[in-house]
Amino acid sequence: MTMWNGSGGVHFSGDEEDSNGSLARCVLSKRGSKALKPFSPYIQAVNEAKAHQWTPKNTDGYFLMATAESVLSFDLIHDKIRSCREVPATVGLYGDFRGGNRLRNAIAKMMERTFMGVEVNTSNICISSGVTAVLDLFFFATCDAGDGCLIPAPYFPAFDNDMAIRNGVEPIPVQPADTQTYIPTATEMEAAAVAAEIKGAKPRVLLVTNPGNPLGTLYPESTLKELLVWAVNRGLHVLCDEIYANSKFGTSANEFISMEKVASIAVAENLLSQKSVAERVHTAYGMSKDFGMSGFRVGCLHTRNKDMQKFWQNMGMFAAVSNDTQHALSIMLEDEEFVDFYVAENNRRLKKSYELFTSLLTAEKVNYMPACAAMFCWLDLRTLLPEPTFEAEDRLWKEIRDECRVILTPGKACHYAEPGFFRACYASMPPEHLKVATQRLAAFAERKRRKRKADSLAVSD
Ligand SMILES: Cc1ncc(COP(=O)(O)O)c(C=O)c1O
Repeated sequence: MTMWNGSGGVHFSGDEEDSNGSLARCVLSKRGSKALKPFSPYIQAVNEAKAHQWTPKNTDGYFLMATAESVLSFDLIHDKIRSCREVPATVGLYGDFRGGNRLRNAIAKMMERTFMGVEVNTSNICISSGVTAVLDLFFFATCDAGDGCLIPAPYFPAFDNDMAIRNGVEPIPVQPADTQTYIPTATEMEAAAVAAEIKGAKPRVLLVTNPGNPLGTLYPESTLKELLVWAVNRGLHVLCDEIYANSKFGTSANEFISMEKVASIAVAENLLSQKSVAERVHTAYGMSKDFGMSGFRVGCLHTRNKDMQKFWQNMGMFAAVSNDTQHALSIMLEDEEFVDFYVAENNRRLKKSYELFTSLLTAEKVNYMPACAAMFCWLDLRTLLPEPTFEAEDRLWKEIRDECRVILTPGKACHYAEPGFFRACYASMPPEHLKVATQRLAAFAERKRRKRKADSLAVSD
């Protein structure tokens, strides 16, 4: 195999020291100037490498494995959405800022049929331009600046931005003691909540992502119930981000179960009241991941909280989805036969890419955590670090970027406490490209291992 020599490439501006000079000259407000930079240096690298991606004709380009996007099934969506693009005159006018009734109805039915496992009422759906906007509005509605949100770590890096950049909400990562499964417990949550209170950040929300980003795994029903009952009894809102709920392709000890379904079981078992669940349990879903439609910017919150629904009626105007997109999407989602075919086919393609990726890693003895859902694999590259520090993790991330031209998400950005882990998205490129990227990664790992062995032999000589 040809060895990649790593010459040339993009000049990454994030590699330089922060220029305080430009901040001092900034004429924006304090909060405006805080938002000038992407929330993490790896995002900057992704943005800069985007214009220079690897293709068979641009072989010194980059493989973007750090964006949570799937390109695997857009051919199916593309054909379908084109056939749904009528433009009735009504789409040219303002609509309902909680989302038009037709799309709310189509999304409610799709969620009910494909993954929620409970009745989903149209009136409980609030639509916005992507789950990012949903989270921003949700944190605005539930928290004041300085309040906290507990999140089991590792977690999706952009959550920090979603809660902090406009709303000033403090993310509180909670590290799992169980480093094999990463499954959190209510006891760990309580300890983190108490510690946050002592520091002055009052926890208001527990944010859980299932299926998980960055792990691509599922929480057991018992864990979801334990966390839910603990959080609601503590007076927290529970937000379950189920944006990957229709991306499940592998075998796992755990079946997917929605938080709403878990809540209905908790009510039936008299662990929680119907009223507290209606007020405090919320689910986020969107079209960006399972349907590969991140550019369409459509997400929603399922909530039975009437105040939240009223809030959305007003605030939804800041992040509404265009009526044109709503109309086409409604037609697409109303076609149940298409949705069922699409979800099954997309999962088949995800499985194929996951298996391609992990079989090449296994062959070269690169460690990873087995996944069964979403579009990620959590790589364990601790053996490639010269020392267990985040500085070493950062250097390794840059080496992989510059030598392999592969951009991963560092574990530090996912708030994982131990250095040496990386998230890889294997769905962000076609399988033919993925094969080249993975071969480079595997060859890099092998080279590093050989060098470390040679170095340690030289020391002991
Ligand atoms: C867990 C999770 N939530 C929310 C989002 C944001 O999605 P959207 O494109 O709908 O804003 C992402 C995107 O990566 C995600 O992984």
